[in-house]
Amino acid sequence: MLLIVEDITKEIKQRYDVDLNSYANKLLISTINKRMFKLDFTMQQTYLDFFHTDPDEAVVLLQQIGVNVSSFFRNPMVYSILEQRILPELIERKRKQGLNEIRIWSAGCASGEEPYSIAILIHQLLKKSFKQWRIHIFATDIDRESLNQAVQGTFSRDRLQDTRLGIYDAYFTRVDAGYSLAPEVRQMVNFSFEDLLSSGKVAPAASIFGSFDLILCRNVLIYFNKSAQKVAIQKFIKTLTSKSYLILGESECIDKNLKSAFMEIDIINRIYKTK
Ligand SMILES: C[S@@+](CC[C@H](N)C(=O)[O-])C[C@H]1O[C@@H](n2cnc3c(N)ncnc32)[C@H](O)[C@@H]1O
Repeated sequence: MLLIVEDITKEIKQRYDVDLNSYANKLLISTINKRMFKLDFTMQQTYLDFFHTDPDEAVVLLQQIGVNVSSFFRNPMVYSILEQRILPELIERKRKQGLNEIRIWSAGCASGEEPYSIAILIHQLLKKSFKQWRIHIFATDIDRESLNQAVQGTFSRDRLQDTRLGIYDAYFTRVDAGYSLAPEVRQMVNFSFEDLLSSGKVAPAASIFGSFDLILCRNVLIYFNKSAQKVAIQKFIKTLTSKSYLILGESECIDKNLKSAFMEIDIINRIYKTK
């Protein structure tokens, strides 16, 4: 199996400039096995031949490796903490500084449910003063199809399973293709392709100054090997300003050598604050 992983990794690097060497080997092997099973291939070589001849297979494989599943308000406890503590604190601090600007990065945003959930919370918290604020939410991913779906802003019912009725009523409209998100929330988020593991850029190009008050990178590091996780966290450390927040997924954590940059705010929900 390792030989075909090597071959596929090389081809994907050449074609898409995505380095699968940074992903956990176990994940690559199990994803390839699942594809072989789905396609009814028993021989690894048959799958490899198929991979080289079908131009769409690399895209399918990439999507499955990233497991691009998300939903609005996924892990509602995190969003409660954001709504009740983190966002009010940020808003208050900025108000006192007379800055009225908040900058957020959702790294590994899949089809937009995470950055849009944050946008909804901010929109609700700011209420009538919303128009006096500059809210910049940068959302990045390597899955172009997910990014396209995010920009469309229409979601299936299952993506809304953790969405409160009040929010659902205020921000979503039933359309033929599913549930369409209100334009004023869609406008708050800037989506772009960005490989967290690329050595070139530290922050999304659109963010210009690349400094953030809050970074969410949830359920992404879990797919990376240890050194790739470090690369991503080092990028975050460079772009977070002091007293800013980093939120990881439930089963993710910061390497012990990089922990000194942070205080642990809520270890169950993996919420960290820079010193
Ligand atoms: C499980 S989803 C997480 C979505 C969202 N953060 C959440 O928690 O619901 C993981 C996402 O990470 C993205 N991803 C994987 N490797 C990446 C990389 N190197 N750079 C940026 N995004 C990546 C995948 O494409 C996928 O959309």
